Amino acid sequence: MRKSINKVLFGIGCMGMLFAVAACGKKEGPASNAPEVTEAPTMTPEPTATPEPTATPKPTVTPKPTAVPTRKPVKIEDALIPNVYTSSQKDFGGTIEHIEYKSKKYHTEEQEETTKYAYVYLPPNYDETKQYNVLYLMHGRGGNEAEWRFDEDSCKVKKIMDSLAYYGEIEPFIVVTPNGRTGGGEDSFYTFGQELRNDLIPYIDANYATYAEYDENGYDLTAAREHRAMAGFSMGGMQTVNVGLCESLDIMAYFGAFAAAPTSYDSTKIASLLENFSEEHEVGYFYSICGTEDPQAYWSAKNASEGLASKTDRLTDVKNFMWHQVPGTHSEHISHLGFYNFAQIAFRGTPLEMSYIKDEAIENGFTFGTVMVRGHVHNKTYGDMLKNEFQIVTAANEMKAYSLLDQMASQKSEDGMPVMKYREADEMMKFAQENGLKVRGHVLVWDNYMCDWFFREGYTNNGAYVDEETMKARLKYYIDEVVTHFETEFPGVVYCWDVVNEAVGDGNDYKSDDPRHVRHSRYGAENLFYTHVGPEYVEFSFACAKETVEKLQAQNPEVSIDLYYNDYNTFLGGKREGVIALVESINSYVKNEDGSYKKLCDGIGMQSYIGGYGQQAGCMNDNDIKKIEQAIRMFHDLGVKVHVTEMSVRNFDKTQVEKHAKFYGKLFEMYKRINEEEVLLSNVSIWGITDNPNMSKNDYSYAMNGPYCGLFTQDCVRKDAYYEALKALKK
Ligand code: GLA
Repeated sequence: MRKSINKVLFGIGCMGMLFAVAACGKKEGPASNAPEVTEAPTMTPEPTATPEPTATPKPTVTPKPTAVPTRKPVKIEDALIPNVYTSSQKDFGGTIEHIEYKSKKYHTEEQEETTKYAYVYLPPNYDETKQYNVLYLMHGRGGNEAEWRFDEDSCKVKKIMDSLAYYGEIEPFIVVTPNGRTGGGEDSFYTFGQELRNDLIPYIDANYATYAEYDENGYDLTAAREHRAMAGFSMGGMQTVNVGLCESLDIMAYFGAFAAAPTSYDSTKIASLLENFSEEHEVGYFYSICGTEDPQAYWSAKNASEGLASKTDRLTDVKNFMWHQVPGTHSEHISHLGFYNFAQIAFRGTPLEMSYIKDEAIENGFTFGTVMVRGHVHNKTYGDMLKNEFQIVTAANEMKAYSLLDQMASQKSEDGMPVMKYREADEMMKFAQENGLKVRGHVLVWDNYMCDWFFREGYTNNGAYVDEETMKARLKYYIDEVVTHFETEFPGVVYCWDVVNEAVGDGNDYKSDDPRHVRHSRYGAENLFYTHVGPEYVEFSFACAKETVEKLQAQNPEVSIDLYYNDYNTFLGGKREGVIALVESINSYVKNEDGSYKKLCDGIGMQSYIGGYGQQAGCMNDNDIKKIEQAIRMFHDLGVKVHVTEMSVRNFDKTQVEKHAKFYGKLFEMYKRINEEEVLLSNVSIWGITDNPNMSKNDYSYAMNGPYCGLFTQDCVRKDAYYEALKALKK
């Protein structure tokens, strides 16, 4: 037997929060699903060639609807631009033009004529009959019009623009990168406002499909102000502040300063200069980003931005202004991150919108959920992630019998029935209720970690085991009380219950003549439910739960609680067959008055820990996806719903994160595909949410999940795995 170890939930144990669970006064025993790999781990095939996003040319990128009442704010990135947004989009790319226009040397008294150059990015499928927003993008002190690399094939800004358009994150717009000097040296950066107003903007309006009504004899530049933006890095950031925001607010509305240079105005000056503009010239958005380890710009950017909104009523924090301090130096990392964020902020009223797996999942017929522990209620970062990213939560342990049963109170119980304590679970329910999350009740009956005293006389640790009749009465009472408690206190929040967990055994855990494979033991220890409630404890539990749901429905017809059988390795042969036989048996256990069978089990929960248990061999095996699909189809054929309840794509190797991300993509591609004609799968909940690279190999959860199984980093930042899943659902 495996050594007893403290169970520490992984994936939910990020940021140093470790949740050791004491089960009924004892330390939790061995992993419930230790020998998960019931089939020899097959060798992981080499990754198939990275599938370029198939050419789904979106001729016109559907603009996001503007009137959706519950729009979510854009979640700007703090650290990394997700890879999918810096990749080339096959058959979907904008074009670059090099232009030449007449201007003047505005920094000199003579203001003699000069010729200027710029690059113009036109979005994919640019159409002259349409109208486009325009961003004027400025370079740094040592650069010129080529600094943003529109002259190179590998141009990252172009890839970002193409990708954001490809995934429908932005309404495509034109980007112009001029030379920010008005024909002279450093002093001429400060006179660029005149060139912009007199020469560059008119040139662009005259030659491209912008929103302006250009007329060579003069036209109203202010009319299309909401369709112009200015942004820039370093010296270009200074220009965005001084020359853009403070000088050109009448002709443009959106501003992005990336590591604005030291000569940028400070916040007091900016606030006072904004007063020069008429109130109708509102600031659409001013976004200022800087790396905190930036020796050239941090203090000046901070001086310009910190507390700015408190000095002027033209700006309101978050609504139309953001000072974004992030880790980083004076580098391309910041200019690109700034560009990526600003590209999504510009030209939109706030609040802004971003893509979520949960929304795409709904489009594809299933809800998206995850696990939570009580500590998350008090952890803002984690709590926010739960609220923002998921529709469903499952309590890791707090709703299990060993957490709810109160031994001391039960010993004093006058009617001999057990007593429960709900404080921790209720706290989580309240969090769910307040944040519009639904809860999967998990779990009423589970032999693992179960309190032995529940089965003994007087609820003592060494009393004799009670008889079957008493045990059935206790179990029925327990199920009724628990289901009723949550529905009464938090109506409608628990939308389904896992009635029984992991009753189908492996290896020698079940009698060879039992087609249901119901376990009488787990790693040699007896299954107390099997012994004391009887070999039909699963069917009996479902009958009890159904009776309670019907009772609640009689009181309130709105009550809707589905009942699930939940197990691990359900996609593997022997386990799958056992589950099918067991569910058939549950659903032919009780007869209705008309003689037909009562459907006690509404659905099957597939835990879905995927890959080698505790080892890299067997991880990310495409064959598993086929097996999962096959099992979903077979379960669906039983006439029940199917949920993925505890998904963790295992990964123990940091160098494999890219392959891990692609595997997630393939998995979600399958989820989408099988639901195309009819919904076969109605929920996917993940158990390994975040990575946990520092986790000890001795942790229970190490083998269960692997340290790199997450969709999010340990800091709750979306990983590429997240974006691959999102991309798969969007295709
Ligand atoms: C099983 C249970 C879960 C959880 C995991 C381990 O899958 O169903 O509740 O305890 O084991 O993290």
